[in-house]
Amino acid sequence: MSGQFAGKVVLVTGGAAGIGKATVEAFAREGATLVVSDVNTEDGQAVADAVVAQGGQAIFIACNVAKGSDVEAMMTQIRDTYGRLDCAFNNAGIEIEQHKLADGKEEVFDSIMDVNVKGVWQCMRYQIPLMLDQGGGAIVNTASVAALGAAPKMSIYAASKHAVLGLTRSAAVEYGKKNIRINAVCPAVIDTEMFRRAAAIDPRKADFAAAMHPVGRIGQADEIAAAVLYLCSDGAAFTTGIALPVDGGATCI
Ligand SMILES: NC(=O)c1ccc[n+]([C@@H]2O[C@H](COP(=O)([O-])OP(=O)(O)OC[C@H]3O[C@@H](n4cnc5c(N)ncnc54)[C@H](O)[C@@H]3O)[C@@H](O)[C@H]2O)c1
Repeated sequence: MSGQFAGKVVLVTGGAAGIGKATVEAFAREGATLVVSDVNTEDGQAVADAVVAQGGQAIFIACNVAKGSDVEAMMTQIRDTYGRLDCAFNNAGIEIEQHKLADGKEEVFDSIMDVNVKGVWQCMRYQIPLMLDQGGGAIVNTASVAALGAAPKMSIYAASKHAVLGLTRSAAVEYGKKNIRINAVCPAVIDTEMFRRAAAIDPRKADFAAAMHPVGRIGQADEIAAAVLYLCSDGAAFTTGIALPVDGGATCI
């Protein structure tokens, strides 16, 4: 632990579980002041409380990223409380039951796009003005390896994550000269509740998922957190607009 984020205010959406929770814990170990945000109030508050119990600094803010009024209220609270936001990890997302494209339903399409795409857009829409006021910042959005190619039986999810890259790259170009860096992480299969829900439906998925990664296993949430901290760090000062696969080599084959 080097305390490389000491004095920095960091927001993590979807921070109650999985990749978001691991990233909260990693930033806390590096001395950041955390804003943990999620729709899951009970678990999100528990994550923030655990950081505080270990001597760190964290608050929880309930927020459904698909609702602009929630995101606006969250950013107002952050501005009022801290007056700044140095790093934002826009990570809240939902998956889809697997099916071929023609078997999809309009309401499922809308709900995935509302959270995975509109949620990221809403967050950046309200985060960027605060970062502009303070002279810079770093944003990381969670995409997926499903944003980098075909994802059979997951076409709506894949489309939503391709859209996250469209938002990330466009905003990176728009705000590059304003010292705001905006990148995306693209995890392959990571051992979180999201993966366990899919594996519970079809137990063969665990073996299949391990085999699709050249390293022979699925990833852990803290391995994504490490990439997010790098992208938010000064070491990545010349890195913006990238889609970083963290995938055990899955996109090589
Ligand atoms: N687990 C994987 O294999 C995997 C792979 C690639 C990308 N991802 C992406 O990583 C991100 C995190 O996934 P995870 O595996 O940690 O999932 P998870 O289900 O374990 O955790 C997701 C968290 O997001 C929260 N959330 C859901 N909808 C929300 C909303 N509308 N507003 C605010 N919070 C909301 C949930 O309450 C939960 O705490 C997602 O964007 C997901 O698409 C996951």
